[in-house]
Amino acid sequence: MDDLQAEKILILDFGSQYTQLIARRIREIGVFSEIRAWDISAEELREYNPRGVILSGGPESVTEGATAPRAPDALFDVGVPLLGICYGMQTMATQLGGQVSTSDVREFGYAQVTVEGESELLCDIADHIGPNGEKSLDVWMSHGDKVVSMPQGFEHTLSTASCPIAGMADEARRYYGIQFHPEVTHTAQGEKIFEHFVRQICCCEARWTSAAIIEDQIARVRSQVGDSHVLLGLSGGVDSSVVAALLHRAIGDQLTCVFVDNGLLRKNEGNMVMDMFAQNMGVRVIRVNAQKQFLDQLRGVDDPEKKRKIIGNTFIDVFDAESNKIDNVRFLAQGTIYPDVIESAASKTGKAHVIKSHHNVGGLPDDMALELVEPLRELFKDEVRKIGVELGLPKDMVYRHPFPGPGLGVRILGDVKEAYADVLREADAIFIEELHASGWYQKTSQAFAVFLPVQSVGVVGDGRRYAWVIALRAVETIDFMTARWAHLPYELLERVSGRIINEIADVSRVTYDISSKPPATIEWE
Ligand code: XMP
Repeated sequence: MDDLQAEKILILDFGSQYTQLIARRIREIGVFSEIRAWDISAEELREYNPRGVILSGGPESVTEGATAPRAPDALFDVGVPLLGICYGMQTMATQLGGQVSTSDVREFGYAQVTVEGESELLCDIADHIGPNGEKSLDVWMSHGDKVVSMPQGFEHTLSTASCPIAGMADEARRYYGIQFHPEVTHTAQGEKIFEHFVRQICCCEARWTSAAIIEDQIARVRSQVGDSHVLLGLSGGVDSSVVAALLHRAIGDQLTCVFVDNGLLRKNEGNMVMDMFAQNMGVRVIRVNAQKQFLDQLRGVDDPEKKRKIIGNTFIDVFDAESNKIDNVRFLAQGTIYPDVIESAASKTGKAHVIKSHHNVGGLPDDMALELVEPLRELFKDEVRKIGVELGLPKDMVYRHPFPGPGLGVRILGDVKEAYADVLREADAIFIEELHASGWYQKTSQAFAVFLPVQSVGVVGDGRRYAWVIALRAVETIDFMTARWAHLPYELLERVSGRIINEIADVSRVTYDISSKPPATIEWE
């Protein structure tokens, strides 16, 4: 059962915004990889027993001396291959006796690096071959510092005009450094470079596939749960849906899902969840209609953080009450995924800043006295989606945009009222329908309508209409930490606005949000 993770790659995080991407790229090749902070202890490192270690980039400068993050000395004693990327290469160089200095020229963005020598990491790859056979690669650079003198044992493998040592290798120890970022898609040969490192140099087999992950998780869940009963809060989002499908396959009727309709869901969401899971798949789902309870609790509250807390707490109350009606429950399943685990580790160590309290990251309270089952805990979102498809969930459902736990509660600005939610549901459904029809749904990462509780004058037919305003929001993002507003075609916006104003009597005006994150956030509250 442990075989899937027997050969794994450790990524030491020096704070680069791309660290998670490195782990995803390695897993796409079929090898399990995990991220740990750069200050991992020697003991933990040995216990982890990786086949190879990648040192990520980072925002600091090794020239700052004692205050700069550095790899544990034990890393150079464990005898496994190392790949240093950007800062990772620089700290490897200084720790092994080389030198780094701050460059006059910062390289940021596209660059072409010339291949200078033979290296197992870079063998058989080139984006361009010159008249004399000289090879070069198109890569993504982002650095100020550079290695100016290599440690003993290293050969020079890559260069650019402003960075003569853009790559180095010690083939005997199997230590490699590259100044550019192979994890970003702009580096054309990035995947090949990682493949060379994990498959050829670290000798890992490609075992980490969707089918194998599912088999592995089914076996783990069965052995954890035995013949006890498991409860799952099913929201209709991707993560909890994939957990439901996975657990249903693993333990069948020992799973009961509770679906809470809080009155803040999208149009038809409740029926869709019941059709898919209860009718089609035969999963036991209890639907709780708690609209009134939620709306009563929210009445008169207009502060976003208070609304989040109320929605989170009410969810717990409702869920608690339902779970008490079911006998013999010992486990609670949750759709926690790997980025949640990384994020909560970062917030525990004080490395992250809380802008909004995303209530479902914290999970349910400890006093529920249930043990947790978290079969997606080690997976990235794209892996969760692939597993969902493999488990037979419809692609439309698995590739849906994310929907926040508090739902429409944070998309109705200020005081939440049922009538506002009804208007918003209709407007949102029109927007999403048109995005699908025009092919823009897949091109955006998240899109939705927002209800603005201000009234505006319009004229419809011969009459004056004094009604609400709807804002449309659509963004493109990779990690939801930063986002660009989507440049939707004017014709599409025109059609959506026309339909919303014509089909919903209570709306007189539609606006499009052209703020990026930062400084705006994706949700309006
Ligand atoms: P922001 O608005 O912080 O959103 O830029 C980033 C992503 O997080 C989602 N989001 C939430 N998800 N509970 C959630 O489960 C919340 O309270 C919450 N607030 C924002 C948001 O939809 C976007 O995908």
